[in-house]
Amino acid sequence: MQRVRKIVGLAPLAGFTESAFRRLARELGADFTWTELISGDFILSRGINHPQFHIFFEERPLRFQLQGSKTKNLVEAAQKVLYSLKPEGLDLNAGCPARKVIKTGAGAALLTNLPLLFEIAKNLAEIAHSFGSNFSVKFRLGFAEDELEKITETLLKAGVDILALHPRTASQGFSGRARWERIRDLVKMVGGEVLVLGSGDITCLSDLERFFKNTKAHGALIGRAALKRPWIFYEWKQKHEINFSLKERLELLRRLESYLKAYRSSEEVLKTLKLWIPKFLKGLPGKRKILPLVLKASTLSDFWQALHLLASSTDAKYK
Ligand SMILES: Cc1cc2nc3c(=O)[nH]c(=O)nc-3n(C[C@H](O)[C@H](O)[C@H](O)COP(=O)(O)O)c2cc1C
Repeated sequence: MQRVRKIVGLAPLAGFTESAFRRLARELGADFTWTELISGDFILSRGINHPQFHIFFEERPLRFQLQGSKTKNLVEAAQKVLYSLKPEGLDLNAGCPARKVIKTGAGAALLTNLPLLFEIAKNLAEIAHSFGSNFSVKFRLGFAEDELEKITETLLKAGVDILALHPRTASQGFSGRARWERIRDLVKMVGGEVLVLGSGDITCLSDLERFFKNTKAHGALIGRAALKRPWIFYEWKQKHEINFSLKERLELLRRLESYLKAYRSSEEVLKTLKLWIPKFLKGLPGKRKILPLVLKASTLSDFWQALHLLASSTDAKYK
């Protein structure tokens, strides 16, 4: 059998993986990117003319994630998305444990209603295929109990092309550890019929190598680690760890800013950069001194001025 290259992509992260960051992740070596969950009902009521639907050519291949529990609405929303945005892949969220999502029967709540999960997945797979896109479901082991086998059987019958598993139950939230051995079980279960992507607790290059060795998954998704170390994709390509200096991190932030400016107002760009700066400075000494001043900035030029002033005064430490 031909040996297939392992793929490493950016996991969906609500509040973070918008277009600008997806583009940055691709530039740093991510093989594909993923939108955060977007409600099918929201798409039907508000349309897709919002910054959150912006897509750069450079961030593709892109998976577009839908969440919802009404088959008809999801299919209609998918049609809109597939027609206008042309994502390479369509994805259904069956893993989100957030109360506001599960109370509508969506996200991880779908794992408690397998006939409905089947119906939605089957219909979305069909519509995705009719537009030439592939279809995945990103899910957890179960809602309160591990029911991986039953869920997998349901999704395979529905005609999915890709299964993306975060091996914790929804009730677990992010507690405990991701059970990579269940990703290995999933790979065995599907027997090459569909692609398996695994997600959970990959924090650095050596985790990534261990992940592939232990799970034999076709691909990995990097979530929280990509927020603090977006160059993890570059490390994977280079096959060695790299420590980005403060200067290099600020260059990444500058790039993020320029991508954000393509579709967001200056106020929104500033707000978003303030969200990112604590992540980008993670692990650097002197961060505590830098952050409060930078976060106080009321314009983009104040933001950068504060950052550069403080960076130059502590530069020696960061070299
Ligand atoms: C802040 C945050 C937002 C997330 N948003 C989504 C989402 O919109 N859709 C989804 O399928 N998973 C979402 N996840 C789950 C991640 O994609 C990923 O499966 C999980 O964080 C485990 O991977 P990690 O340990 O690499 O972070 C989110 C996780 C976090 C921490």
